[in-house]
Amino acid sequence: MNPIVIATNNPHKIKEIHEILNGAFEVKGLKDIGCTEELPETTGTIPGNAVQKAQYVFDHYGVDCFAEDTGLEIDALNGAPGVDTAHYAGPERDALANMDLVLRQLSGREDRSARFRTVIALFLGGKLHTFEGVAEGRIAKTRSGQDGFGYDPIFMPNGYEQTFAELSSDIKNAISHRGRAMEKLKAFLTKDD
Ligand code: IMP
Repeated sequence: MNPIVIATNNPHKIKEIHEILNGAFEVKGLKDIGCTEELPETTGTIPGNAVQKAQYVFDHYGVDCFAEDTGLEIDALNGAPGVDTAHYAGPERDALANMDLVLRQLSGREDRSARFRTVIALFLGGKLHTFEGVAEGRIAKTRSGQDGFGYDPIFMPNGYEQTFAELSSDIKNAISHRGRAMEKLKAFLTKDD
């Protein structure tokens, strides 16, 4: 199998993807194929954006590749921030501002249930395949923890009293939205081994 390009520039996602893959198949970064431009994500849905990013890399560079898109869905906010997760508090994509806005909107609310949803879109030999991973949990009352990225300091996965930012990367990767979607991708790509 040829190396597969990870179609993201997000260093946190790249780190987690490498940890989860643990060498299961050979991967390359966008820089390795000379792709330095921002990938488009304008479809208005999480699956749509995942496909759009992977399609862009396949159309322009002709390589096997996968892209992922992730959203946080909060029940008391009717599924927001959803596809707007990255820029919920504004175009700066500021993680602290995003978390503070969520905490303000949920202030005094009993129902804090939420989930992260990741969709991975894979182009392999020009064919599209998609994989989804979901992590159910709830939004904490305050931020806690130093690890992880994005909304990790306010997301407590079901079964844990700590946030993703307080849990080890091994635990986060084993139960996270990205971990679950990546395990499906890994199983698909290694099924004939
Ligand atoms: P995108 O998939 O790059 O559009 O990212 C969507 C938003 O979700 C960004 O604000 C990320 O920081 C956030 N995000 C993505 N994955 C995670 C995660 O594993 N934990 C916490 N936040 C995340």
